Amino acid sequence: MPEIIKLAGVSKVFVSEKGHEVLAVDNVNITVNESEFVCLLGPSGSGKSTILRMLAGLTPATTGKVEVLGQEVRAPRSEGSMVLQDYSLLPWRSVVENVAFGLELRRVPKEERLRIAHEMVEMVGLAEFAHASPYELSGGMQQRAAIARALATSPRILYMDEPFGALDAFTRRQMQQELLSLWLKDKKTVVFVTHSVEEAVYLATRIIVMSARPGRVIADFPVDIPYPRRSSDVAFGKMVDDLMHMLMELAYER
Ligand SMILES: Nc1ncnc2c1ncn2[C@@H]1O[C@H](COP(=O)(O)OP(=O)(O)OP(=O)(O)O)[C@@H](O)[C@H]1O
Ligand SMILES: [Mg+2]
Repeated sequence: MPEIIKLAGVSKVFVSEKGHEVLAVDNVNITVNESEFVCLLGPSGSGKSTILRMLAGLTPATTGKVEVLGQEVRAPRSEGSMVLQDYSLLPWRSVVENVAFGLELRRVPKEERLRIAHEMVEMVGLAEFAHASPYELSGGMQQRAAIARALATSPRILYMDEPFGALDAFTRRQMQQELLSLWLKDKKTVVFVTHSVEEAVYLATRIIVMSARPGRVIADFPVDIPYPRRSSDVAFGKMVDDLMHMLMELAYER
């Protein structure tokens, strides 16, 4: 599989209003191949969101090189779509109009974008709610709409920043299963940020563990457990356990 994302020696320093410098990401080297499902796992403040934002071209790296599809990222880019924890649907638009939004920005003609949007809405199981407003949907349904919106522009890469963090345990598992079955169909590259060890082991083909600030890569390994995974499997439990240990040790080192 060809390389699709490359971070080489990437650091990010934020400067506060008072002029203090915060090293958020410290010399990170990550390469992602097309079709991988990578989970970035790490405690709060380990620079996970900052890495996604650098990949999407929303904030520049302070040093090092960020490359997507072989090109250095210097400005917002269109090959990736972002899904955030808070769904960020436009409240005055219906579900299908929200899903069509990215296509509208790309000046896809109305008929075509509505056709695609309806297809996506159906794919995430919201056909009945296509014309509902976001406030009429549950959290899980809003997140489905946000995923449909992200997929509508046929991105090569899906960036997901704790997309299921606000959902209850049952809905969260359901959404994880749905995301996996979408991914298994077309194997788009996914970079998925989570705090949850269990979620990372459930979803990822590869887990990258980040340390607390400054964010550094402290482990990077494949998850060789066949899908569908079950948390009751021995290999699953062992990996969750090992990762927990690693994160706890890191916390004590501080
Ligand atoms: N725009 C900003 N200005 C100043 N500091 C920032 C900015 N964005 C992030 N930071 C700092 O950079 C560090 C990393 O932040 P980031 O949001 O990437 O962490 P995270 O791993 O996504 O954390 P969480 O799991 O809580 O979402 C934090 O210490 C944060 O305070
Ligand atoms: Mg974050």
